[in-house]
Amino acid sequence: MLKGKHIVLGITGGIAAYKSVTLLRLLVKAGAEVQVVITPSGKEFITPVTLSALSGKPVICDFFTANTGEWHSHVDIGLWADAMVIAPATASTIGKMANGIADNMLVTTYLSAKAPVFVAPAMDLDMMAHPSTKANIEKLRSYGNHIIEPASGELASHLVGKGRMEEPENIVKVLDRFFDDPADLPLSGKQVLITAGPTYEKIDPVRFIGNYSSGKMGYALARKAADMGADVVLVSGPVSLTIDHPRVRVVRVESACEMLAACVEAFPSSRLSIMCAAVADYALEHVESAKIKREHGEAPVLRLVKNPDIAATLGQMKAPGQILAGFALETDHEMSNAVEKINKKNLDFIVLNSLRDEGAGFRTDTNKITIIEAGGAVHPYELKSKDEVAADIIRFSIDKL
Ligand code: PMT
Repeated sequence: MLKGKHIVLGITGGIAAYKSVTLLRLLVKAGAEVQVVITPSGKEFITPVTLSALSGKPVICDFFTANTGEWHSHVDIGLWADAMVIAPATASTIGKMANGIADNMLVTTYLSAKAPVFVAPAMDLDMMAHPSTKANIEKLRSYGNHIIEPASGELASHLVGKGRMEEPENIVKVLDRFFDDPADLPLSGKQVLITAGPTYEKIDPVRFIGNYSSGKMGYALARKAADMGADVVLVSGPVSLTIDHPRVRVVRVESACEMLAACVEAFPSSRLSIMCAAVADYALEHVESAKIKREHGEAPVLRLVKNPDIAATLGQMKAPGQILAGFALETDHEMSNAVEKINKKNLDFIVLNSLRDEGAGFRTDTNKITIIEAGGAVHPYELKSKDEVAADIIRFSIDKL
């Protein structure tokens, strides 16, 4: 709920500044009180007159109003704010924020703000890809700022989308969710652990064993659980997806062993855990430290060893009151294989999806599932979008808690 919230909207000098007008309009429409703070170069792209007309407040750019000498206190503005949103945030402003270079009103206000800060980067693709920009964005993340980027699907669209400012409607949604009163939601105060994506098992510095999981199903589950009020720990294998939800903490891992360690840490405080990741069942017995060369005699024989079973490990740790669910991705003997996994891993229920069903499984935007309970009850569902499937699974889980 944005109604009555005090929002500082920081605007910097990028071509996407025109989108800030829509953002401002939407924030005001949602009932927020907005104070615009603009950088000097932001004024080159958008006039303060438009912004003050929409916000109903004078736009602040400088430390003083030149003709009256009125002093604008960045500390007071920072304290007034319930949230600060910087959109668009250029590479230059991100760099200043990351490194404490307080040479304008906007960065000074940012440094004094006690409220949560949301940053929507906008710049060209090459600037976004520069290691210095990436490092600065990571610094902002590590300071607890929320980075709002367009959600990406496949890798290709992710690359096209990189650098583009998130649409104002989506920025408002992120803020809205942040100010939701989670006390009213069914999973509020509960931690939920979700695993997503594939794991990569290194062969040598350039090769790995992996699988086709895109992370779409697991990320949809994380988003839905968080929308229902949960504090979500999303343990994610390597995927090109991003998620920005104030109640989702992403722990990025690569291998099954790393995923196991992250899950073992989060599991004891999680009421509900859903293992959606496609974990590699095998890893290399020995990882080469140098690239295996093609010309070196015979083709190499790779010796594999079994990876730990993460779900089964958590199944052994499970305490009364905790719900542990797995997925079963099958190609044949679906039902019997799924039931065997429930027992072997001590699951409360399993979500079966079969690669024999069109539109189900890896990489698709849809899935077709059957939920099988440890007690034997079977609940089939229609083919639906992964967001809707996630909602079905989370609703089903809530009934079990
Ligand atoms: O990511 P997407 O592209 O959206 O695709 C979604 C999905 C197909 C990956 C997902 O819906 C799914 O089916 N995930 C589980 C895939 C899988 O590995 O299934 P499995 O039947 O091999 O494993 C059974 C269960 O044990 C799973 O919960 C798995 O997370 C878990 N497991 C498996 C192996 C292992 N070493 N440790 C585990 O915890």
